[in-house]
Amino acid sequence: MIVQSSQEVKLKLTHTLSPEAMEALRSLGQLVIALSIFSHLSLLAYSSSPQDLQILNAERRIDLTSHIVKVFLTLKVENTGTSPVSEVLLAFPPTQVDHLALLKAAITVGKKKKKSYVPLEVNPTELPDAPNGAKSFSISLLNPLNSGETATLEVLYILTHSLEPFPAEISQSESQLVYFRDGAIILSPYYVKQQTTFIRTPSTRVESFTRVESTNRAGSEIKYGPYKDRPAYSYSPIIVHFENNNAFAVVEELVREVEVSHWGNLQITEHYKLAHAGARHKGIFSRVDYQSRPHAGGVSSFKHLLARLPPRVHSVYYRDEIGNISSSHLRTEYLKSDLEIEPRYPLFGGWKATFVIGYGLPLEDFLFESPDGRRYLNFTFGCPLAETVVDKLTLKVGTVVFQVVLPEGSKNPSAVVPFSVEQHLETKYSYLDVAGRTVVVLEKRNVVPEHNSHFQVAILSLTLVGLYQVYYTFNPVFMLAEPLMLVSTFFFIFMASITVDERSPDF
Ligand SMILES: *[C@@H]1O[C@H](CO)[C@@H](O)[C@H](O)[C@H]1NC(C)=O
Ligand SMILES: *[C@@H]1O[C@H](CO)[C@@H](O)[C@H](O)[C@H]1NC(C)=O
Repeated sequence: MIVQSSQEVKLKLTHTLSPEAMEALRSLGQLVIALSIFSHLSLLAYSSSPQDLQILNAERRIDLTSHIVKVFLTLKVENTGTSPVSEVLLAFPPTQVDHLALLKAAITVGKKKKKSYVPLEVNPTELPDAPNGAKSFSISLLNPLNSGETATLEVLYILTHSLEPFPAEISQSESQLVYFRDGAIILSPYYVKQQTTFIRTPSTRVESFTRVESTNRAGSEIKYGPYKDRPAYSYSPIIVHFENNNAFAVVEELVREVEVSHWGNLQITEHYKLAHAGARHKGIFSRVDYQSRPHAGGVSSFKHLLARLPPRVHSVYYRDEIGNISSSHLRTEYLKSDLEIEPRYPLFGGWKATFVIGYGLPLEDFLFESPDGRRYLNFTFGCPLAETVVDKLTLKVGTVVFQVVLPEGSKNPSAVVPFSVEQHLETKYSYLDVAGRTVVVLEKRNVVPEHNSHFQVAILSLTLVGLYQVYYTFNPVFMLAEPLMLVSTFFFIFMASITVDERSPDF
Protein backbone atom coordinates (compact mmCIF):
# COMPACT_ATOMS: atom_id res chain seq x y z
CA MET A 1 0.00 0.00 0.00
CA ILE A 2 2.65 2.50 1.07
CA VAL A 3 5.00 1.19 -1.59
CA GLN A 4 2.39 1.78 -4.24
CA SER A 5 1.79 5.37 -3.26
CA SER A 6 5.50 6.08 -3.31
CA GLN A 7 5.67 4.77 -6.86
CA GLU A 8 2.88 7.11 -7.80
CA VAL A 9 4.89 9.93 -6.40
CA LYS A 10 7.80 8.83 -8.52
CA LEU A 11 5.75 8.99 -11.70
CA LYS A 12 4.43 12.42 -10.93
CA LEU A 13 7.87 13.67 -10.05
CA THR A 14 9.38 12.73 -13.36
CA HIS A 15 9.70 15.97 -15.27
CA THR A 16 12.24 16.30 -17.99
CA LEU A 17 14.90 18.90 -18.34
CA SER A 18 16.25 20.33 -21.52
CA PRO A 19 19.75 18.99 -22.32
CA GLU A 20 21.25 22.49 -22.08
CA ALA A 21 19.92 23.07 -18.60
CA MET A 22 21.11 19.66 -17.52
CA GLU A 23 24.53 20.39 -18.90
CA ALA A 24 24.63 23.69 -17.12
CA LEU A 25 23.71 21.99 -13.90
CA ARG A 26 26.34 19.31 -14.23
CA SER A 27 29.36 21.19 -15.38
CA LEU A 28 28.76 24.65 -14.06
CA GLY A 29 32.16 24.84 -12.43
CA GLN A 30 33.97 23.86 -15.63
CA LEU A 31 31.84 26.25 -17.60
CA VAL A 32 32.70 29.17 -15.34
CA ILE A 33 36.41 28.43 -15.64
CA ALA A 34 36.13 28.01 -19.40
CA LEU A 35 34.22 31.27 -19.71
CA SER A 36 36.69 33.22 -17.66
CA ILE A 37 39.61 31.87 -19.68
CA PHE A 38 37.73 32.70 -22.84
CA SER A 39 36.97 36.25 -21.82
CA HIS A 40 40.58 36.64 -20.76
CA LEU A 41 41.76 35.54 -24.18
CA SER A 42 39.37 37.79 -26.01
CA LEU A 43 40.49 40.67 -23.81
CA LEU A 44 44.07 40.07 -24.86
CA ALA A 45 43.14 39.76 -28.50
CA TYR A 46 41.13 42.94 -28.72
CA SER A 47 42.42 45.20 -26.02
CA SER A 48 41.49 48.66 -27.12
CA SER A 49 41.61 52.11 -25.64
CA PRO A 50 38.33 53.90 -24.85
CA GLN A 51 39.21 56.43 -27.56
CA ASP A 52 38.35 53.80 -30.13
CA LEU A 53 34.64 54.05 -29.33
CA GLN A 54 32.22 56.91 -29.30
CA ILE A 55 28.55 57.07 -28.38
CA LEU A 56 26.47 58.41 -31.24
CA ASN A 57 23.31 58.64 -29.19
CA ALA A 58 22.43 57.96 -25.57
CA GLU A 59 19.00 58.00 -23.99
CA ARG A 60 18.55 57.52 -20.27
CA ARG A 61 15.21 57.06 -18.50
CA ILE A 62 15.32 57.27 -14.71
CA ASP A 63 12.23 55.89 -13.01
CA LEU A 64 11.74 57.34 -9.52
CA THR A 65 8.14 56.20 -9.10
CA SER A 66 8.92 53.69 -6.35
CA HIS A 67 11.63 53.63 -3.68
CA ILE A 68 13.67 51.35 -5.93
CA VAL A 69 15.34 53.46 -8.64
CA LYS A 70 15.33 51.90 -12.11
CA VAL A 71 17.45 53.29 -14.92
CA PHE A 72 17.07 52.30 -18.57
CA LEU A 73 19.91 53.33 -20.82
CA THR A 74 20.05 52.96 -24.58
CA LEU A 75 23.47 53.46 -26.13
CA LYS A 76 24.31 53.54 -29.81
CA VAL A 77 28.06 52.95 -29.95
CA GLU A 78 30.36 53.30 -32.93
CA ASN A 79 33.86 51.97 -33.41
CA THR A 80 35.86 54.94 -34.65
CA GLY A 81 39.21 53.21 -34.23
CA THR A 82 41.05 50.92 -36.60
CA SER A 83 40.94 47.61 -34.71
CA PRO A 84 37.91 45.53 -33.62
CA VAL A 85 36.50 46.22 -30.14
CA SER A 86 34.92 43.49 -28.01
CA GLU A 87 34.03 45.39 -24.85
CA VAL A 88 31.96 48.45 -24.08
CA LEU A 89 32.54 50.22 -20.76
CA LEU A 90 30.03 51.81 -18.41
CA ALA A 91 31.03 54.28 -15.70
CA PHE A 92 29.27 54.98 -12.39
CA PRO A 93 29.91 57.52 -9.64
CA PRO A 94 31.31 55.64 -6.59
CA THR A 95 28.26 56.54 -4.47
CA GLN A 96 25.97 54.79 -6.96
CA VAL A 97 28.07 51.65 -7.19
CA ASP A 98 27.53 51.08 -3.46
CA HIS A 99 23.78 50.98 -4.08
CA LEU A 100 23.81 49.07 -7.32
CA ALA A 101 21.59 46.02 -6.84
CA LEU A 102 21.46 44.86 -10.44
CA LEU A 103 23.13 45.68 -13.76
CA LYS A 104 22.10 43.99 -16.97
CA ALA A 105 22.92 44.61 -20.61
CA ALA A 106 21.59 43.31 -23.90
CA ILE A 107 22.40 43.94 -27.53
CA THR A 108 19.69 44.69 -30.08
CA VAL A 109 19.77 42.38 -33.08
CA GLY A 110 17.60 42.68 -36.18
CA LYS A 111 15.62 45.70 -37.26
CA LYS A 112 12.09 46.99 -36.63
CA LYS A 113 9.62 44.13 -36.21
CA LYS A 114 12.27 41.42 -36.06
CA LYS A 115 14.13 43.25 -33.30
CA SER A 116 15.20 41.10 -30.37
CA TYR A 117 17.53 41.44 -27.40
CA VAL A 118 20.41 39.13 -26.62
CA PRO A 119 21.72 39.33 -23.05
CA LEU A 120 25.39 40.16 -22.65
CA GLU A 121 27.79 39.46 -19.84
CA VAL A 122 28.67 42.44 -17.61
CA ASN A 123 31.60 42.41 -15.20
CA PRO A 124 33.24 44.97 -12.94
CA THR A 125 36.57 46.17 -14.23
CA GLU A 126 39.34 48.53 -13.15
CA LEU A 127 40.19 51.57 -15.23
CA PRO A 128 43.36 53.20 -13.95
CA ASP A 129 42.60 56.56 -15.55
CA ALA A 130 38.97 56.92 -14.35
CA PRO A 131 38.63 60.34 -12.65
CA ASN A 132 37.05 61.02 -9.22
CA GLY A 133 36.92 57.38 -8.24
CA ALA A 134 34.44 56.51 -11.01
CA LYS A 135 33.81 52.76 -11.10
CA SER A 136 33.66 50.83 -14.33
CA PHE A 137 31.85 47.81 -15.69
CA SER A 138 32.59 46.10 -18.94
CA ILE A 139 29.98 44.68 -21.30
CA SER A 140 31.32 41.81 -23.42
CA LEU A 141 29.96 41.92 -26.95
CA LEU A 142 28.91 38.72 -28.71
CA ASN A 143 31.02 39.56 -31.77
CA PRO A 144 33.74 42.18 -31.89
CA LEU A 145 32.63 45.49 -33.33
CA ASN A 146 34.73 46.20 -36.41
CA SER A 147 36.07 49.57 -37.38
CA GLY A 148 33.23 51.82 -38.55
CA GLU A 149 30.45 49.52 -37.27
CA THR A 150 27.74 50.50 -34.78
CA ALA A 151 25.78 48.52 -32.17
CA THR A 152 22.80 49.39 -29.99
CA LEU A 153 22.96 48.34 -26.35
CA GLU A 154 20.18 48.32 -23.80
CA VAL A 155 21.27 48.62 -20.18
CA LEU A 156 19.13 48.31 -17.07
CA TYR A 157 20.44 49.10 -13.63
CA ILE A 158 18.70 49.28 -10.28
CA LEU A 159 19.70 51.36 -7.28
CA THR A 160 18.46 50.84 -3.73
CA HIS A 161 18.62 53.23 -0.77
CA SER A 162 19.17 56.09 -3.22
CA LEU A 163 16.31 58.40 -2.25
CA GLU A 164 17.12 60.50 0.79
CA PRO A 165 14.08 61.66 2.79
CA PHE A 166 14.17 65.43 3.31
CA PRO A 167 12.92 66.52 5.75
CA ALA A 168 14.32 63.47 7.50
CA GLU A 169 11.45 63.49 10.02
CA ILE A 170 7.78 64.08 9.30
CA SER A 171 4.63 64.01 11.37
CA GLN A 172 1.67 61.77 10.71
CA SER A 173 -0.14 64.34 8.58
CA GLU A 174 2.78 65.25 6.33
CA SER A 175 3.69 63.97 2.91
CA GLN A 176 7.12 62.41 2.36
CA LEU A 177 9.65 64.34 0.27
CA VAL A 178 12.92 62.90 -0.96
CA TYR A 179 16.11 63.93 -2.74
CA PHE A 180 17.57 62.14 -5.71
CA ARG A 181 21.09 63.00 -6.86
CA ASP A 182 22.62 62.20 -10.22
CA GLY A 183 24.12 64.00 -13.21
CA ALA A 184 22.39 65.86 -16.04
CA ILE A 185 25.00 64.31 -18.31
CA ILE A 186 25.56 60.58 -18.46
CA LEU A 187 28.88 59.60 -16.91
CA SER A 188 30.74 57.80 -19.69
CA PRO A 189 34.33 56.89 -20.51
CA TYR A 190 33.52 57.78 -24.13
CA TYR A 191 32.86 60.89 -26.14
CA VAL A 192 29.06 61.27 -26.40
CA LYS A 193 27.73 62.97 -29.56
CA GLN A 194 24.13 63.33 -28.43
CA GLN A 195 22.25 62.48 -25.25
CA THR A 196 18.99 63.05 -23.38
CA THR A 197 17.87 62.11 -19.86
CA PHE A 198 14.25 61.75 -18.72
CA ILE A 199 13.37 61.56 -15.02
CA ARG A 200 9.96 60.31 -13.96
CA THR A 201 8.58 61.22 -10.55
CA PRO A 202 5.62 59.49 -8.84
CA SER A 203 3.46 62.61 -8.80
CA THR A 204 3.52 66.11 -10.24
CA ARG A 205 4.60 67.50 -6.88
CA VAL A 206 8.24 68.40 -7.47
CA GLU A 207 9.57 70.88 -4.90
CA SER A 208 12.68 71.76 -6.86
CA PHE A 209 15.14 70.42 -9.39
CA THR A 210 18.51 71.64 -10.61
CA ARG A 211 18.17 73.70 -13.74
CA VAL A 212 21.01 73.54 -16.18
CA GLU A 213 20.98 74.54 -19.82
CA SER A 214 18.05 72.86 -21.66
CA THR A 215 16.00 71.54 -18.74
CA ASN A 216 12.28 71.04 -19.15
CA ARG A 217 9.53 69.78 -16.92
CA ALA A 218 6.13 68.57 -18.05
CA GLY A 219 3.79 66.89 -15.56
CA SER A 220 5.71 64.17 -13.79
CA GLU A 221 8.63 64.17 -16.21
CA ILE A 222 11.81 66.25 -16.15
CA LYS A 223 13.97 66.30 -19.25
CA TYR A 224 17.69 67.12 -19.36
CA GLY A 225 19.04 67.67 -22.86
CA PRO A 226 19.50 67.01 -25.65
CA TYR A 227 23.18 67.74 -25.13
CA LYS A 228 25.65 67.54 -27.97
CA ASP A 229 29.36 66.65 -28.12
CA ARG A 230 30.32 66.01 -24.51
CA PRO A 231 33.84 64.72 -23.83
CA ALA A 232 34.48 61.57 -21.81
CA TYR A 233 33.70 61.79 -18.06
CA SER A 234 31.73 65.05 -18.36
CA TYR A 235 29.66 65.53 -15.24
CA SER A 236 27.03 68.01 -14.16
CA PRO A 237 25.45 67.21 -10.78
CA ILE A 238 21.71 67.63 -10.29
CA ILE A 239 19.32 67.24 -7.35
CA VAL A 240 15.61 66.56 -7.68
CA HIS A 241 13.42 67.12 -4.60
CA PHE A 242 10.02 65.51 -4.97
CA GLU A 243 7.11 63.82 -3.26
CA ASN A 244 7.26 60.05 -2.92
CA ASN A 245 4.71 58.42 -0.65
CA ASN A 246 5.40 54.89 -1.75
CA ALA A 247 5.95 52.18 0.81
CA PHE A 248 9.68 52.33 1.52
CA ALA A 249 9.55 48.67 2.48
CA VAL A 250 12.98 47.31 3.30
CA VAL A 251 13.55 43.86 4.70
CA GLU A 252 16.75 44.33 6.65
CA GLU A 253 17.12 40.61 6.97
CA LEU A 254 15.23 37.73 5.42
CA VAL A 255 15.93 34.08 6.11
CA ARG A 256 14.05 31.67 3.84
CA GLU A 257 14.15 28.05 4.88
CA VAL A 258 13.18 25.49 2.28
CA GLU A 259 12.69 21.99 3.60
CA VAL A 260 12.20 19.06 1.29
CA SER A 261 10.25 16.32 3.02
CA HIS A 262 9.98 12.74 1.93
CA TRP A 263 6.21 13.00 2.20
CA GLY A 264 6.07 14.93 -1.06
CA ASN A 265 5.93 18.34 0.56
CA LEU A 266 8.06 21.45 0.38
CA GLN A 267 7.83 23.45 3.58
CA ILE A 268 8.83 27.12 3.41
CA THR A 269 9.45 29.23 6.49
CA GLU A 270 10.37 32.87 6.00
CA HIS A 271 11.68 35.06 8.83
CA TYR A 272 11.30 38.78 8.12
CA LYS A 273 12.81 41.85 9.77
CA LEU A 274 10.87 44.55 7.98
CA ALA A 275 11.47 48.28 8.29
CA HIS A 276 9.97 51.45 6.84
CA ALA A 277 13.08 53.16 5.45
CA GLY A 278 11.40 56.47 4.62
CA ALA A 279 11.29 59.75 6.57
CA ARG A 280 11.19 59.02 10.30
CA HIS A 281 7.91 59.46 12.06
CA LYS A 282 7.88 62.30 14.61
CA GLY A 283 5.34 63.13 17.26
CA ILE A 284 2.70 60.77 18.56
CA PHE A 285 0.86 58.27 16.46
CA SER A 286 -2.87 58.84 16.53
CA ARG A 287 -4.81 55.76 15.58
CA VAL A 288 -8.01 57.79 15.60
CA ASP A 289 -6.63 60.21 13.02
CA TYR A 290 -5.20 57.34 11.07
CA GLN A 291 -8.45 55.43 10.91
CA SER A 292 -10.86 58.31 10.52
CA ARG A 293 -8.98 60.07 7.75
CA PRO A 294 -7.12 57.34 5.92
CA HIS A 295 -6.19 59.65 3.03
CA ALA A 296 -5.23 62.68 5.03
CA GLY A 297 -2.93 61.09 7.59
CA GLY A 298 0.00 58.72 7.26
CA VAL A 299 0.17 58.80 3.47
CA SER A 300 3.71 57.46 3.47
CA SER A 301 2.98 54.68 5.97
CA PHE A 302 1.98 51.22 4.92
CA LYS A 303 -0.55 48.84 6.31
CA HIS A 304 -0.73 45.98 3.84
CA LEU A 305 1.93 43.96 2.16
CA LEU A 306 1.46 41.67 -0.78
CA ALA A 307 3.33 38.39 -0.92
CA ARG A 308 3.34 36.58 -4.27
CA LEU A 309 3.41 32.87 -3.58
CA PRO A 310 3.43 29.95 -6.02
CA PRO A 311 0.12 28.36 -7.06
CA ARG A 312 -1.15 25.37 -5.05
CA VAL A 313 0.17 26.83 -1.79
CA HIS A 314 -1.41 25.35 1.34
CA SER A 315 -1.23 25.53 5.15
CA VAL A 316 -0.33 29.22 5.13
CA TYR A 317 0.36 30.89 8.45
CA TYR A 318 1.55 34.31 9.45
CA ARG A 319 2.73 35.06 12.95
CA ASP A 320 4.88 37.39 15.03
CA GLU A 321 6.32 37.22 18.55
CA ILE A 322 2.85 37.57 20.06
CA GLY A 323 1.25 34.78 18.05
CA ASN A 324 -0.76 34.12 14.92
CA ILE A 325 -2.03 37.15 13.03
CA SER A 326 -5.34 36.36 11.46
CA SER A 327 -5.57 39.46 9.25
CA SER A 328 -4.27 37.96 6.06
CA HIS A 329 -6.12 37.07 2.91
CA LEU A 330 -5.08 34.40 0.49
CA ARG A 331 -6.25 34.39 -3.12
CA THR A 332 -5.13 31.36 -5.08
CA GLU A 333 -5.22 31.41 -8.83
CA TYR A 334 -4.02 29.13 -11.57
CA LEU A 335 -0.59 30.70 -11.98
CA LYS A 336 0.04 32.38 -8.64
CA SER A 337 -1.31 32.94 -5.14
CA ASP A 338 -1.53 36.36 -3.57
CA LEU A 339 -1.20 36.61 0.17
CA GLU A 340 -2.14 39.98 1.58
CA ILE A 341 -0.75 40.43 5.04
CA GLU A 342 -1.42 43.15 7.55
CA PRO A 343 0.99 43.69 10.45
CA ARG A 344 -0.55 44.48 13.84
CA TYR A 345 0.08 48.20 13.37
CA PRO A 346 0.71 50.36 10.31
CA LEU A 347 4.40 51.02 9.66
CA PHE A 348 5.63 54.61 9.75
CA GLY A 349 9.12 55.84 8.92
CA GLY A 350 11.72 54.16 11.10
CA TRP A 351 9.28 51.58 12.49
CA LYS A 352 9.97 47.89 12.30
CA ALA A 353 8.04 44.66 12.33
CA THR A 354 9.33 41.14 12.79
CA PHE A 355 7.21 38.27 11.54
CA VAL A 356 7.24 34.79 10.07
CA ILE A 357 5.32 33.50 7.06
CA GLY A 358 5.10 29.76 6.54
CA TYR A 359 3.52 27.67 3.82
CA GLY A 360 3.56 24.29 2.18
CA LEU A 361 3.87 23.46 -1.50
CA PRO A 362 3.55 20.23 -3.46
CA LEU A 363 7.10 18.98 -4.02
CA GLU A 364 6.21 17.62 -7.45
CA ASP A 365 5.85 21.20 -8.76
CA PHE A 366 9.48 21.93 -7.97
CA LEU A 367 11.34 18.64 -8.27
CA PHE A 368 12.63 17.93 -11.78
CA GLU A 369 14.69 15.21 -13.33
CA SER A 370 17.56 15.73 -15.71
CA PRO A 371 18.09 13.24 -18.58
CA ASP A 372 20.90 11.51 -16.70
CA GLY A 373 18.39 10.61 -14.00
CA ARG A 374 19.52 13.13 -11.41
CA ARG A 375 16.91 15.08 -9.54
CA TYR A 376 17.06 18.72 -8.68
CA LEU A 377 14.96 21.30 -6.95
CA ASN A 378 13.98 24.32 -9.06
CA PHE A 379 12.75 27.16 -6.85
CA THR A 380 12.61 30.97 -6.78
CA PHE A 381 15.40 32.85 -5.08
CA GLY A 382 14.09 36.31 -4.18
CA CYS A 383 11.70 37.76 -1.65
CA PRO A 384 7.99 37.11 -2.28
CA LEU A 385 6.99 40.56 -0.97
CA ALA A 386 6.21 42.93 -3.87
CA GLU A 387 8.33 46.09 -4.38
CA THR A 388 10.62 45.32 -1.50
CA VAL A 389 14.37 45.67 -1.07
CA VAL A 390 16.12 42.99 0.95
CA ASP A 391 19.37 44.16 2.52
CA LYS A 392 20.44 40.62 3.30
CA LEU A 393 18.80 37.44 2.10
CA THR A 394 19.78 33.99 3.30
CA LEU A 395 18.22 30.98 1.66
CA LYS A 396 18.62 27.58 3.25
CA VAL A 397 17.70 24.43 1.38
CA GLY A 398 17.64 21.34 3.52
CA THR A 399 15.75 18.17 4.04
CA VAL A 400 13.73 16.61 6.81
CA VAL A 401 15.08 13.16 6.05
CA PHE A 402 16.58 11.98 9.28
CA GLN A 403 20.15 11.80 8.15
CA VAL A 404 22.09 12.45 5.01
CA VAL A 405 25.56 11.28 4.17
CA LEU A 406 27.41 13.25 1.56
CA PRO A 407 28.98 11.12 -1.13
CA GLU A 408 32.75 11.53 -1.46
CA GLY A 409 33.82 14.54 -3.42
CA SER A 410 30.64 16.58 -3.16
CA LYS A 411 31.65 18.81 -0.29
CA ASN A 412 30.86 21.95 -2.27
CA PRO A 413 27.35 23.27 -2.73
CA SER A 414 26.27 23.29 -6.34
CA ALA A 415 23.26 25.56 -6.58
CA VAL A 416 22.90 27.15 -10.01
CA VAL A 417 21.82 30.78 -9.59
CA PRO A 418 21.70 33.25 -12.53
CA PHE A 419 23.63 35.91 -10.57
CA SER A 420 26.44 35.87 -8.06
CA VAL A 421 25.59 34.62 -4.57
CA GLU A 422 27.70 33.28 -1.75
CA GLN A 423 27.28 29.57 -1.17
CA HIS A 424 28.27 27.24 1.60
CA LEU A 425 27.10 24.09 3.35
CA GLU A 426 25.85 23.94 6.88
CA THR A 427 25.04 21.01 9.08
CA LYS A 428 21.79 21.24 10.93
CA TYR A 429 21.18 19.13 14.01
CA SER A 430 17.82 18.43 15.45
CA TYR A 431 16.90 16.02 18.22
CA LEU A 432 17.66 12.39 17.34
CA ASP A 433 19.99 13.33 14.50
CA VAL A 434 23.16 11.32 14.56
CA ALA A 435 25.21 12.98 11.86
CA GLY A 436 23.13 16.09 11.18
CA ARG A 437 21.50 17.17 7.97
CA THR A 438 23.26 19.02 5.24
CA VAL A 439 21.82 22.38 4.32
CA VAL A 440 22.81 24.36 1.24
CA VAL A 441 23.04 28.04 2.20
CA LEU A 442 22.86 30.84 -0.38
CA GLU A 443 23.47 34.44 0.67
CA LYS A 444 23.04 37.71 -1.17
CA ARG A 445 22.98 41.36 -0.18
CA ASN A 446 20.93 44.09 -1.84
CA VAL A 447 18.17 41.96 -3.36
CA VAL A 448 15.43 43.56 -5.49
CA PRO A 449 12.29 42.03 -7.08
CA GLU A 450 14.26 41.46 -10.31
CA HIS A 451 16.20 38.78 -8.43
CA ASN A 452 13.08 36.62 -8.28
CA SER A 453 14.43 34.13 -10.78
CA HIS A 454 14.72 30.39 -10.38
CA PHE A 455 17.75 28.58 -9.04
CA GLN A 456 18.48 24.87 -9.12
CA VAL A 457 20.03 22.60 -6.53
CA ALA A 458 21.03 19.11 -7.61
CA ILE A 459 19.62 17.32 -4.63
CA LEU A 460 20.49 13.75 -5.44
CA SER A 461 24.23 14.25 -5.56
CA LEU A 462 24.21 16.60 -2.64
CA THR A 463 21.89 16.56 0.28
CA LEU A 464 19.17 14.15 -0.52
CA VAL A 465 20.86 10.82 -0.94
CA GLY A 466 18.61 9.55 1.78
CA LEU A 467 15.57 11.14 0.25
CA TYR A 468 16.34 9.54 -3.05
CA GLN A 469 16.23 6.12 -1.50
CA VAL A 470 13.10 6.84 0.43
CA TYR A 471 11.38 8.04 -2.66
CA TYR A 472 12.50 5.84 -5.40
CA THR A 473 13.55 2.53 -3.96
CA PHE A 474 11.25 2.69 -1.03
CA ASN A 475 12.92 1.49 2.10
CA PRO A 476 10.55 1.55 5.06
CA VAL A 477 13.43 1.01 7.50
CA PHE A 478 14.58 4.49 6.55
CA MET A 479 11.42 6.16 7.71
CA LEU A 480 11.21 3.99 10.76
CA ALA A 481 14.75 4.75 11.81
CA GLU A 482 13.90 7.46 14.32
CA PRO A 483 11.09 5.51 16.04
CA LEU A 484 13.33 2.42 15.97
CA MET A 485 16.11 4.37 17.63
CA LEU A 486 13.72 5.38 20.39
CA VAL A 487 12.35 1.88 20.81
CA SER A 488 15.80 0.32 20.90
CA THR A 489 17.00 2.91 23.38
CA PHE A 490 14.15 2.08 25.72
CA PHE A 491 14.72 -1.58 25.09
CA PHE A 492 18.37 -1.33 26.13
CA ILE A 493 17.50 0.68 29.22
CA PHE A 494 14.90 -1.92 30.05
CA MET A 495 17.35 -4.78 29.47
CA ALA A 496 19.99 -3.02 31.51
CA SER A 497 17.62 -2.58 34.42
CA ILE A 498 16.55 -6.23 34.21
CA THR A 499 20.19 -7.28 34.21
CA VAL A 500 20.83 -5.11 37.23
CA ASP A 501 17.71 -6.52 38.92
CA GLU A 502 18.78 -10.08 38.21
CA ARG A 503 22.22 -9.46 39.54
CA SER A 504 21.13 -7.64 42.64
CA PRO A 505 20.36 -10.78 44.74
CA ASP A 506 24.00 -11.83 44.28
CA PHE A 507 25.23 -8.81 46.18
C1 LIG B 1 -1.16 29.34 14.50
O1 LIG B 1 -1.44 28.84 13.20
C2 LIG B 1 -0.88 27.58 12.92
C3 LIG B 1 -1.15 27.25 11.48
O2 LIG B 1 -2.43 27.59 11.11
C4 LIG B 1 -1.47 26.55 13.87
O3 LIG B 1 -0.90 25.28 13.62
C5 LIG B 1 -1.18 26.97 15.29
O4 LIG B 1 -1.80 26.09 16.20
C6 LIG B 1 -1.68 28.39 15.56
N1 LIG B 1 -1.22 28.81 16.87
C7 LIG B 1 -2.00 29.49 17.71
C8 LIG B 1 -1.38 29.86 19.01
O5 LIG B 1 -3.15 29.79 17.43
C1 LIG C 1 12.42 26.21 -13.30
O1 LIG C 1 11.04 26.55 -13.21
C2 LIG C 1 10.65 27.62 -14.06
C3 LIG C 1 9.20 27.95 -13.75
O2 LIG C 1 8.42 26.84 -13.69
C4 LIG C 1 10.87 27.23 -15.51
O3 LIG C 1 10.49 28.28 -16.35
C5 LIG C 1 12.34 26.88 -15.70
O4 LIG C 1 12.53 26.43 -17.02
C6 LIG C 1 12.77 25.81 -14.72
N1 LIG C 1 14.20 25.62 -14.86
C7 LIG C 1 14.78 24.43 -14.90
C8 LIG C 1 16.25 24.40 -15.11
O5 LIG C 1 14.16 23.40 -14.75
